[in-house]
Amino acid sequence: MKLGVNIDHIATLRQARHSQSPDPVYAAFICELAGCDSIVCHLREDRRHIQDRDVYLLKQVVKTRLNLEMALSEEIVKIALDVKPHQVTLVPEKREELTTEGGLDVIKNFEKIKKNVKRFHNAGIKVSLFIEPEENQILKSKETGAEFIEIHTGRYAEAKAEEDMQKELEKIVRATDYAISIGIRVNAGHGLDYHNTGPICRIKEIEELNIGYSIICRAVFVGLETAIREMLDIIRRESR
Ligand code: PXP
Repeated sequence: MKLGVNIDHIATLRQARHSQSPDPVYAAFICELAGCDSIVCHLREDRRHIQDRDVYLLKQVVKTRLNLEMALSEEIVKIALDVKPHQVTLVPEKREELTTEGGLDVIKNFEKIKKNVKRFHNAGIKVSLFIEPEENQILKSKETGAEFIEIHTGRYAEAKAEEDMQKELEKIVRATDYAISIGIRVNAGHGLDYHNTGPICRIKEIEELNIGYSIICRAVFVGLETAIREMLDIIRRESR
């Protein structure tokens, strides 16, 4: 199982002072040195963390893969088509939210998503749809032509009682099995940390985990490279 490191919150720290550091581009070098498999960032419409300049520079320097998270706003789509990251992950976006709150509603937005998947494919960009672990959303995702879904693990990560966590985990297992059975590839992420990532790693068909907040939080105390190596140790141990 692979690890994509989301570096948005390196940029959050920089934007707290509207200064030049810490630079997410520099962070990307360290993430790759530590052994991550891809760099993930989210260019939000409100530009609260990652800026246009970051995305353009990251495309030039990232040696693994650049996965750009984005909402389907025409302004951001045009930037993505210009930058040509290896992959885009389409997410819903609300201005007032602290972070992405739920999965895309692929059923409701089917035509718009399908049309844009085609635009990305024409530019040679792979597409992943960030969705809840629900069969109807997975089936519709497959029909858009996207290569991947990213299963939203937020509800699993936020569950307080052991029993609720187990239920959410089972939903993710079933959703993964279903996705694989209809021929769409599976990634997962959101809210994963050093305590709850293990059980997700045991779902063999999931190809890549996208993790940000917990890694950057730990990096404040132990350094970015160590924080990533510690997460990679968990993934390697648990997904064996
Ligand atoms: N995957 C997607 C689609 C996201 O929007 C985010 C948050 O930016 C993540 C993964 C990473 O979540 P976290 O920062 O909670 O690890």
